[in-house]
Amino acid sequence: MAEGPTSHLDPRVRGLSTSPTLAINETSARLRLEGRTVYRLGLGQSPFPVPETVAEELRRQAHQKDYLPVAGLPALREAVSAYHNRRDGLSSTANDVLIGPGSKELLFLAQLCYQGTLLLPSPSWVSYGPQADILGRPVRWLPTALKDDWRLTTDTLSEAVAELRGQPAMLILNYPNNPTGTTLGRGRLAKLADICRAARLLVISDEIYSEVHHHGEHASLASFYPEGTVISGGLSKWCGAGGWRLGTFIFPPQLRWLREAMAAVASETYTSVCAPIQYAAVEAYLGGSEMEDYLDLSRQVLRAVGEVSWAKLREAGLAVARPEGGFYLFPDASSLAPKLAERGIGDSTELCRQLLDETGVASLPGVQFGRPPEELTFRLATVNFDGARAMRAAAKAGGRLNQRFVEDNCADLLNALRHLVSWFA
Ligand SMILES: Cc1ncc(COP(=O)(O)O)c(C=O)c1O
Repeated sequence: MAEGPTSHLDPRVRGLSTSPTLAINETSARLRLEGRTVYRLGLGQSPFPVPETVAEELRRQAHQKDYLPVAGLPALREAVSAYHNRRDGLSSTANDVLIGPGSKELLFLAQLCYQGTLLLPSPSWVSYGPQADILGRPVRWLPTALKDDWRLTTDTLSEAVAELRGQPAMLILNYPNNPTGTTLGRGRLAKLADICRAARLLVISDEIYSEVHHHGEHASLASFYPEGTVISGGLSKWCGAGGWRLGTFIFPPQLRWLREAMAAVASETYTSVCAPIQYAAVEAYLGGSEMEDYLDLSRQVLRAVGEVSWAKLREAGLAVARPEGGFYLFPDASSLAPKLAERGIGDSTELCRQLLDETGVASLPGVQFGRPPEELTFRLATVNFDGARAMRAAAKAGGRLNQRFVEDNCADLLNALRHLVSWFA
């Protein structure tokens, strides 16, 4: 075979590997093919089906074939703007919205266009850091602690801001949070907003899990720091539509320069988001009673699953923050460190490797979220159940869902948790 061109990769992508969330999914699928039982608590995707009205709209719009405007279908931008005005009390217009092929791509474009330091709470979602690395942007991690339920404190942010000495910086704040499952309430948001305003920070507020706040009580930083906050969202987590690839950014007028730069890069790269998906997404953002019922059931199920999982992990002797939104928990096995060391486990990667090997439970090590390698934290995505079935059962149950509900409708998840409890015991 002829040799072909020699490898000349850009130094910034040399050594870059597949995103760990996608990699764990592929490993789990391979082990399953080998006949092993694998509990898929690795990849965080919504367990629920796309709402029927939205799926029906996609079928109706399958014939849409034209390239759409770079910034997005005007009707969709209008619906997204109206949705945020309703929900967050903004006074935005369609011209403040940018639609992208998933918020992940928009987050990357924002980092590409903005030249400055990236401020990232630790732990943070797996892809913000690697995106900064690809672009050669410096990252300043902001430590958080389990004793604060992993919430960013004002002291930590103030300290980082002081170190910047006026240099430009972008903070990505994600709540409800992946991986910790906790969120930021209005009081803390207001205090963080004061620091952001004084330092004139650009904030990307990643609110992709806002609609799956377990009590439907999400508040946005944009209510407290409107002039410097871009809200990042999309269909993936509240509409069961991760694979549809539709993300949204909404900018205040003061940040129009960023929107324009991002749209210009978009026009030279992906052109526009898939047309039928954009038409169908209008239906989701218009809202209405069917969407409200769907969200209400999603929240009830996620809350019950979160509560039961939290209790089980504590039974296993793990320290873990009580989940408030989304579908993640971030346990810490540090108190069991001496016992784990006897099994040759001294870091989160080895912990997750042995967990998968010995219990079949797939998870992601804390190090992937920016935690110190030797800290024994890991992330569980509590989504390996049939969301459609759980929703139907929740509708029938009509009210508070208990442990029995989780036993009856999320048996696989409960089995996974039981395996974890006995392994740690
Ligand atoms: C915190 C967070 N932000 C952004 C994303 C990206 O979502 P999408 O590209 O599907 O909009 C995810 C997906 O897992 C996430 O967990």
